[in-house]
Amino acid sequence: MSTPLTGIRACVFDAYGTLFDVAAAAAACGDVLGARAAPLAALWRDKQLQYSWLRGLAGTYVDFWQVTQDSLDFTLETMGIAPADLRGRLLGLYRTLAAFPEVPGVLRTLRAAGLRTAILSNGSPAMLASAVDGNGLGALFDAVISVDEVGAFKPHPSVYQRALDRLDVPADAVSFQSSNAWDAHAASAFGMRVVWCNRYGQRRERLPGAPDREIRTLAELPALLAP
Ligand code: LAC
Repeated sequence: MSTPLTGIRACVFDAYGTLFDVAAAAAACGDVLGARAAPLAALWRDKQLQYSWLRGLAGTYVDFWQVTQDSLDFTLETMGIAPADLRGRLLGLYRTLAAFPEVPGVLRTLRAAGLRTAILSNGSPAMLASAVDGNGLGALFDAVISVDEVGAFKPHPSVYQRALDRLDVPADAVSFQSSNAWDAHAASAFGMRVVWCNRYGQRRERLPGAPDREIRTLAELPALLAP
């Protein structure tokens, strides 16, 4: 059993893969995709992240909705999948991805303990609003912060700084939760306390920073932050 983190005032969450299930869109198209649903979801996600990093390096930022469409187009072409309405169906589903089942209860518990809650995500403001509203989570966040406010993607430090500015808290009073190991390392290197929600059994990254705690689902979070 890990020891709790102390001195935390704000809990900041990554969105995609951490709060919202990015594999759900392809899984919901199982009638068309069959066994190709999981590989499609994996390649779509990989390309989406690669495009965000590559655009960051090249200084060619576009919002995450454009990146999400571009990466889906690459994926459909690569896998040779072309049913007429599938692209629109997948994108529609991506805008209303289901939250992981423990999310609402965990947010309520953290807030009842006096902690502030926020999202810090690559997602565009419209994408995040749609996902938050679609899951009825609007009242459970003090702030929903999109990287669009700074025009850069994670892991650029200006993104993590934005959360501190919006919440008016120092980095060491923030617990940042992400299922993405690279995001967890970057937030740690920036100075935040980090709980890596390792939903997917990833290996640890060989990158700067080191998550303070590792859990498998967010259901384990209140014991670390609101014991
Ligand atoms: C996000 C991606 C990285 O929500 O999961 O920022």
